[in-house]
Amino acid sequence: MDAGAGLLHRLTSYAPDRDWDVPADDPRVRHDLISNDMSTVPPFMKIYPDGLPVIALPRDLPDPGVSATSVLAGVPVPARPLDAAQLGRVLFLGAGVVRTKPWHGRDFLFRASGSAGGRFPLEVYASTRGVDGVPDGVHWYDGAEHALVQVGPAAEGEVTTLVVTGVPWRTGWRYAERGWRHMYWDAGTLLSQLSVAVASAGSAPRVRSLFPDAAVRKLVGADGVHEQPLALLSLGDGAPAIGTTGAATPGELPPVELPLCTAAQRAGERDELGAPWPEPTLSDVPPSGSVDVVVRRRGSQRLMDRSRTLPRTSLEWPMAAAMRGVDVPHWVVVHGVDDVASGIYRWPDLSRPRLTGELRDELERICLDQTLAADAAYVVIGAAPLSLLDDRSYRDAQLTAGLVEGRLHLGAYALGASATGMTFLDSEVPALLGEPDDLATLLFTCVGVPEYASRSGGGPGAPVEIRPVAERFKDE
Ligand SMILES: Cc1cc2nc3c(=O)[nH]c(=O)nc-3n(C[C@H](O)[C@H](O)[C@H](O)COP(=O)(O)O)c2cc1C
Repeated sequence: MDAGAGLLHRLTSYAPDRDWDVPADDPRVRHDLISNDMSTVPPFMKIYPDGLPVIALPRDLPDPGVSATSVLAGVPVPARPLDAAQLGRVLFLGAGVVRTKPWHGRDFLFRASGSAGGRFPLEVYASTRGVDGVPDGVHWYDGAEHALVQVGPAAEGEVTTLVVTGVPWRTGWRYAERGWRHMYWDAGTLLSQLSVAVASAGSAPRVRSLFPDAAVRKLVGADGVHEQPLALLSLGDGAPAIGTTGAATPGELPPVELPLCTAAQRAGERDELGAPWPEPTLSDVPPSGSVDVVVRRRGSQRLMDRSRTLPRTSLEWPMAAAMRGVDVPHWVVVHGVDDVASGIYRWPDLSRPRLTGELRDELERICLDQTLAADAAYVVIGAAPLSLLDDRSYRDAQLTAGLVEGRLHLGAYALGASATGMTFLDSEVPALLGEPDDLATLLFTCVGVPEYASRSGGGPGAPVEIRPVAERFKDE
């Protein structure tokens, strides 16, 4: 607990006696940073020098018309070869810019998948193999221009592989060292969207969280301090194309370091390639819109209608899809679901509540007075005993919780409900769930009846401008 990821977890845990933006009283966290200081705000994306080869991806996205629920259920789609337009569609449905809002004299860029506090700290690279219209190589995805910038030579390996990296400072600018946890949450939600897009395109999505960090850092030009590799997603079975054959152009990032994040990341570095995460199949597939329609419709619901309930299937199905192949424990706090008594359940057992009763006020308190946690029909909580995690499996657990959030989110929207990720007071969760204090809370997701319909996101190069809806806080 006094080093690596465990130390970061402890020093970035929220408790009622300290405001979220006040650093812990410990010299290992930075005390000189001011949260949300516009004079230090980092750019939305990495910046590359002119002169690198750029491929403009087709802006007309080839929607294969596959239902979101079928790929969320893991039902395979007949294999199809990949071309530039389809690879572009996959990248756009994860990391493309879909919405904007005016923000301090510039456009704030919302990506297709959500991000804690809208900080969007992730970058995505495609190490391509045999994609029609894209030379084999390592390419950075420019989600605003919908273009690939080639940053490195073709890698060794068999299958096109996406590399997701995180920039700690981009989220640390608001959340300081806790942002390292957010990078893994966000990467999980991004992977959920990239995976459904990959599956619908006719390639098997193969997520790996165990990979040789130093080699992958070299592959994409990430230094491990200002940019850190988080996960791989291969498009099909076979050896991922991650064998570096030459140096990558590093690109430009603000030189701000959060030493606790560097240490936590380093402590988990390994030198092996793990097996892909399991992708079991559900037999039950309710009807829904296509992957493309559901992904573009999704947003983070700012207001939910607490006077209305969700049907039991809108809890059972999205949760079953979200938890496919996942062994990280999850709990469900039910506020308003037909035929399920209010209370706390340990998924998948909805027959025996751990606790019954009205928990809306308590959830609101634990979620830092954010009313969504009380207005939701149900709130899902991922958590795992810290003593069972090492520096690498801690990363896996955070990433898994993010993947569950992302799939649950898509599943909810596919069935006409709405969702939002949610942060929490760490210190209060073990008692809520009746678990030992050693329980490390990973992530909350609120699912409920939408009070308004979000505007669908725009296409490549044509994001829609939104006027954001403000969420409610207690006593407002
Ligand atoms: C992991 C995660 C945690 C989040 N936590 C909160 C939260 O505590 N409160 C909240 O109102 N929204 C939360 N959000 C929603 C983000 O603010 C939202 O994703 C972001 O502003 C982008 O907007 P969009 O999801 O509508 O595209 C969270 C999102 C994610 C992915």
